[in-house]
Amino acid sequence: MANVLVLFAHPGQRHSRVNVGMAKIASSIEGVTFIDLYAQYPKFDIDIDVEQDRLLRHDVLIFQFPIYWYSTPSILKEWQDLVLEYGFAYGHSGDKLANKVFLPVITAGGPDHAYTEHGRNHFRLRTLLSPLEQTANLCQMRFVAPYALFSAHDAQQEGRADPHLEGYRRLLLALRDETFDLSAATQTELLSAETLPIRERTVHD
Ligand SMILES: Cc1cc2nc3c(=O)[nH]c(=O)nc-3n(C[C@H](O)[C@H](O)[C@H](O)COP(=O)(O)O)c2cc1C
Repeated sequence: MANVLVLFAHPGQRHSRVNVGMAKIASSIEGVTFIDLYAQYPKFDIDIDVEQDRLLRHDVLIFQFPIYWYSTPSILKEWQDLVLEYGFAYGHSGDKLANKVFLPVITAGGPDHAYTEHGRNHFRLRTLLSPLEQTANLCQMRFVAPYALFSAHDAQQEGRADPHLEGYRRLLLALRDETFDLSAATQTELLSAETLPIRERTVHD
C-alpha cells in the first residue's frame, strides 16, 4: 500500500460546487492523508518542518485545487516556495522526494476547447501547468497527467459531477492500492473519470 497525501487549496470554499465534494471523498478514505491548506494556515504561516516530515511519510503527493488565474491558488505557491528547500527537495543531497509520485487534481471554469492554441485561453492546460511539472522534475518526482474537470460550473447540471467524484474515489484507491498504471498515466496529456488507467488487482498485488 502506498501512502497518499492530498494538499487541498481552495480559497473560496463556500462557493465551491465540485471541490468540496471531492475533498469530502479524499478525507474519508483510509490511507489517504487529507490536508486543507487554507484551514491549516489561514495566515500563511506554513510550518516547514511539519510539511517536510509529512512529505517524507508519503509516497504520492496530490495538489487538489481550482485553477485561479491560470495557476494554483496562492497558498500552494507559498507552500512550494517554503517547503521545497535546497538540500531537501533539490540541489546537493536534496533527494528526499526522489521517486515519489506527483499528481495535480484540477477543476477549471473554462471549457476544454478554450484550453487550446486557437481557443480563448490560447494555451493548453498542460502548458499552463509546466511550472508544476518542471518543479516535480527538478525534485526527481514522477509527474502524472492531471486529473481535470473542465466547465466545472455546469458539471452538476450536466450530470458530469458525480462521475468525476466517483472517478476521484477510484483514482485515490488505485494510487493507495498501487493498481494505478503510472507509466500509462505519465504518457497521457490529461486524465478524466473515463480514462483512468487502473489495473485489476492480481495475486501479486
Ligand atoms: C479568482 C478566480 C480566478 C479564476 N481563474 C480561472 C482561470 O484562470 N481559468 C479557469 O478556467 N477558471 C478560473 N476560475 C474558475 C474556477 O476555476 C472555478 O470556479 C472552479 O474550478 C470551480 O470549482 P468549485 O466549484 O469547486 O469552486 C477562477 C475563479 C476565481 C474565483
